[in-house]
Amino acid sequence: MFPFLDLAGINRRDEAALTEAFQRVLRSGWYVLGEEVAAFEAEYAGLCGARHAIGVGNGLDALTLILRGYRQLGRLAESDEVILPNNSFVATALAVSEAGLRPVLVEPDVETFNIDPAAVEAAIGPRTRAIIAVHLYGRLADMDALRRLADRHGLLLIEDAAQAHGARDAQGLAAGALGDAAGFSFFPVKNLGALGDAGALTTQDDALAEQVRKLRNYGSSRKYVHELQGVNSRLDELQAALLRVKLARVEADAQARRQLAGRYLEGIDNPHLRLPRAPVIAESHVWHQFVIRSAQRDALQAHLESLGVPSLIHYPIPIHRQAAYAEYAVVDLPVSMQLAGEVLSLPLYPGMAEEWVDRTIEACNTFRP
Ligand SMILES: Cc1ncc(COP(=O)(O)O)c(C=O)c1O
Repeated sequence: MFPFLDLAGINRRDEAALTEAFQRVLRSGWYVLGEEVAAFEAEYAGLCGARHAIGVGNGLDALTLILRGYRQLGRLAESDEVILPNNSFVATALAVSEAGLRPVLVEPDVETFNIDPAAVEAAIGPRTRAIIAVHLYGRLADMDALRRLADRHGLLLIEDAAQAHGARDAQGLAAGALGDAAGFSFFPVKNLGALGDAGALTTQDDALAEQVRKLRNYGSSRKYVHELQGVNSRLDELQAALLRVKLARVEADAQARRQLAGRYLEGIDNPHLRLPRAPVIAESHVWHQFVIRSAQRDALQAHLESLGVPSLIHYPIPIHRQAAYAEYAVVDLPVSMQLAGEVLSLPLYPGMAEEWVDRTIEACNTFRP
């Protein structure tokens, strides 16, 4: 079986530059909150077209700190409701809970896998204060519809852009500049991945940026003076230096992913499989995952495996059926339940061997339920 994702191969492309970055940090003698983080923050803000990018420990913290920052600013208060898609990775909900707010889980659209604006509208109540739009699998959520809803009801619109680095809308605006604030993960498997845990948030809002810069650093902007009960969640110099190297490839890698997605969309032709639909604006999808559907998903996965083709399930248990969210188990969310039983992610990454792409297409086409 070939690898589902060849991280070593992806990073080998930059081995010399990554090694040089490591040595630069090693020899600098400065390892936390220094020049590399400041430079990465400026460069990442540039990619997103955001006024501020703030490096933090991971993607979960990025989202949590956005919400905590808005609490400091009085825009959110204890137990306020935040609407998010039930088929996301659990971190989206954990951030809401960790910030002392209440997740409200809603259904995705089956075609795009992204949060369904109609479901969001139906879920808005007197305690609703924010929506988190997850750009799931790398595809931009319907931000125009969500912005209209947010404006009409006076809600914050936050992006969970953990899977969507560099995705752009019809106007050329990037993930990270489409809402009030956005959280990014640079977990190694992401389209922009560090060599360990790392994350960042972006925002156009100076006041939020100021709060978050304090919150990530023990609630302090001056050494040993603590204005807030903050946390320790800083992007470290080493990861920032490595990310600066890898940042140069984000756009080209997204294009390579689009090409591979195009190969799958053209080559896979099996009436028993549902393929993802390519968006009208090609740039609005960075294909973090290529997710197909089958009512016989487990048999499909076994068939692929028997032909040496790896696959993964993102995600097998929707948030409302996680033990961590047992109080939501009674909520009826049939669309996300159905998707959890049908989705299967195929291997897709820059540098994936032609032969592996062909083998994946062939294996999909020979599946018979
Ligand atoms: C949609 C989504 N949100 C949040 C996260 C959390 O990021 P991290 O793993 O860096 O905490 C991830 C990735 O793991 C994710 O895929």
